[in-house]
Amino acid sequence: MTVIAEATLSTFTPAKDRQYHDVDGAAYYLPADKEEADRLNAQYLLLKDIFGGNAIYAPVALSGDEWVLDNGTGTGAWIMDVRSAIPPSISMYGVDLQTRLVPLNPPSNTHFLQGSLLDLPRDWTDRFSLVNQRLLVAALSQDDWKKAVSEIYRVLKPGGWVQILEVSGRLFTPEGRTDGHADMFNNIAGKIRAGRGIVGDCFEDIPDLLRGQGFRNVAVVEERRVPMGNKHGQVGERMLRNIVSLYQGMKSPALDCGTVSSERDFDKVVDAFEARCNESGGIETRWYAFCAQKP
Ligand SMILES: C[S@@+](CC[C@H](N)C(=O)[O-])C[C@H]1O[C@@H](n2cnc3c(N)ncnc32)[C@H](O)[C@@H]1O
Repeated sequence: MTVIAEATLSTFTPAKDRQYHDVDGAAYYLPADKEEADRLNAQYLLLKDIFGGNAIYAPVALSGDEWVLDNGTGTGAWIMDVRSAIPPSISMYGVDLQTRLVPLNPPSNTHFLQGSLLDLPRDWTDRFSLVNQRLLVAALSQDDWKKAVSEIYRVLKPGGWVQILEVSGRLFTPEGRTDGHADMFNNIAGKIRAGRGIVGDCFEDIPDLLRGQGFRNVAVVEERRVPMGNKHGQVGERMLRNIVSLYQGMKSPALDCGTVSSERDFDKVVDAFEARCNESGGIETRWYAFCAQKP
């Protein structure tokens, strides 16, 4: 693995109080700070509820001295949750561009490494029984997705499983209706991604990418459509809080690509979006879980 030097702060103008990272060649644009760690942890619990409580949904039974990898681990929330449900003899690895958000003193079978999921260690070939990868929607170009899937294939041992959870990079409105606030979000997020070559609807390509790489038993395990706002119960409220926090985290890259002219304008756009979701409901997020097996 190319071990990346200590991640530095972003070259784009950071919005007040937010920290981003800027690793050479990496397109990822969301913050890496305490606020984002809180958002990722809340999102982890929310998605666990939405997907029926299963952190491991690939049909894999882990035992003995097997290895498990979490690509783009973020705060390490998945690893720290899963390790309580599997034998302590299993070795857990989490890889991320930066490791600022992971637990400071992980248990002895748990290792967090700084590096890119596009270039995993050479000596990991055929090593892992399970690779988990979640929410790289703000990070990867089409070529990166191909590389990521080929690296996952390489590090899995024959018979090993990958599980991938993704979200559409767009928000959706009910069939045939447009909504200025959803359009604004999609426009801002779309411009940020376009400037960085990032694919927003990666979920559409994942099954073909997996099959093209040689995976078998490729399955879309679940699709979940989750509307936001206080008209949609607790899950709707939690989802709105999370998407509002995500939106706020897009402030610096949004200012940088000129979609809004000032921090104040951006804050107003996000406030109006939040009020709109609570007043009228109807704007939804779409989430997808896939799994596949290396023959
Ligand atoms: C939206 S967060 C999701 C974190 C975690 N998977 C979760 O579900 O909570 C995306 C993470 O991927 C990491 N990331 C982005 N590009 C990466 C790359 N090329 N290699 C490794 N990690 C990457 C980011 O630093 C960030 O922590």
